[in-house]
Amino acid sequence: MARIAVVAGDGIGPEVIGQARKVLDAVLPGVEATEYDLGAARYHRTGEVLPDSVIEELRGHDAILLGAVGDPTVPPGVLERGLLLKLRFVFDQYVNLRPSRLFPGVVSPLAGVKPGEIDMIVVREGTEGLYAGAGGGLHRGTPAEIATEESLNTRHGVERVIRDAFARAERRPRRKVTLVHKTNVLTHAGSLWSRTFDAVAAGHPDVTTEYQHVDAAAMFLVTQPQRYDVVVTDNLFGDILTDIAAAVTGGIGMAASGCINPERAHPSMFEPVHGSAPDIAGKGLADPAAAVLSVSLLLDHLGHADAAHRVAEAVAAELAGRTSGAPLRTAGVGDRLAAAAIG
Ligand code: NAD
Ligand code: IPM
Ligand code: MN
Repeated sequence: MARIAVVAGDGIGPEVIGQARKVLDAVLPGVEATEYDLGAARYHRTGEVLPDSVIEELRGHDAILLGAVGDPTVPPGVLERGLLLKLRFVFDQYVNLRPSRLFPGVVSPLAGVKPGEIDMIVVREGTEGLYAGAGGGLHRGTPAEIATEESLNTRHGVERVIRDAFARAERRPRRKVTLVHKTNVLTHAGSLWSRTFDAVAAGHPDVTTEYQHVDAAAMFLVTQPQRYDVVVTDNLFGDILTDIAAAVTGGIGMAASGCINPERAHPSMFEPVHGSAPDIAGKGLADPAAAVLSVSLLLDHLGHADAAHRVAEAVAAELAGRTSGAPLRTAGVGDRLAAAAIG
């Protein structure tokens, strides 16, 4: 039976993961889920962010289910870098998969966009770019202060994520891949990305390709989101574009993601795109759809395609049944989803 490590984390993390657990237990009875106490509370209590011993324990699981980390009482970056990014890096989760679909019954803030018309995945590079942590500072706190952040891009890292994007496009009806970068300014990394993209594309003559600068892509995501099928991009561009993609498909509360190690050499991690939402934490108002759809991605990754499908269908049905204006209650949604996913 599958062994899942659960890191509920901070803010609304435990609230939405509570619902995700209900659904997981419902569709995969007997699943072995182990909770790991990581996040702001542990940091305050012990000073620990992610002990090596915990990394080794997590390594023994089939997958990790994570809520969100980050809290206003902890300096920015301590948990985000020290916990979340560290997991993505040590487990070499280089494919950060972020699907966006406009589900029936969900109203897009974009006029005239109908359900089904937006159906895209962003394949975001997950282990390099500006997230690699290269950089530094000089003359801190003085008028001469300088801060640098360097973007790391390796041929190996760029090629493997582009290959993954093309492989995914081959399995989708539209078979289209859009490379998003900023080749007109980031001439070093941009050139590496676009040459690598062209080289991989040559092996996929049946896949349509296009290139867009990231600023234009941000615009088109709002004006013509229908045009996208598979988008492949670097770590930071992918972070930003997927919040936009979430917004145009009904909101960040519905956006799921997988941090995937396709070779399965390490556990993959599944998590909502959203954060710990301190503004609504503890109020029972968080939408658990993103966390539950992340469970669907997790099940799919572990080979439980049937259960994955049932979970996604349960979410689709629940979203279609929502009445606009009615307040959402996190636990109520979770109960309905768990019941629907069994049936
Ligand atoms: P956020 O995603 O937490 O919140 C942005 C807005 O979206 C807020 O108004 C919030 O209430 C709303 N929102 C988010 N999730 C929602 C849900 N499920 N249902 C309804 N509304 C929802 O982003 P932020 O405010 O920029 O970040 C808050 C903290 O979370 C920071 O510490 C940040 O570093 C961290 N963060 C963590 C992750 C992660 O763990 N994967 C992701 C993003 C941000
Ligand atoms: C996300 C988050 C993270 C990221 C942060 C919290 C490190 O914004 O998962 O989208 O930038 O990847
Ligand atoms: Mn983000």
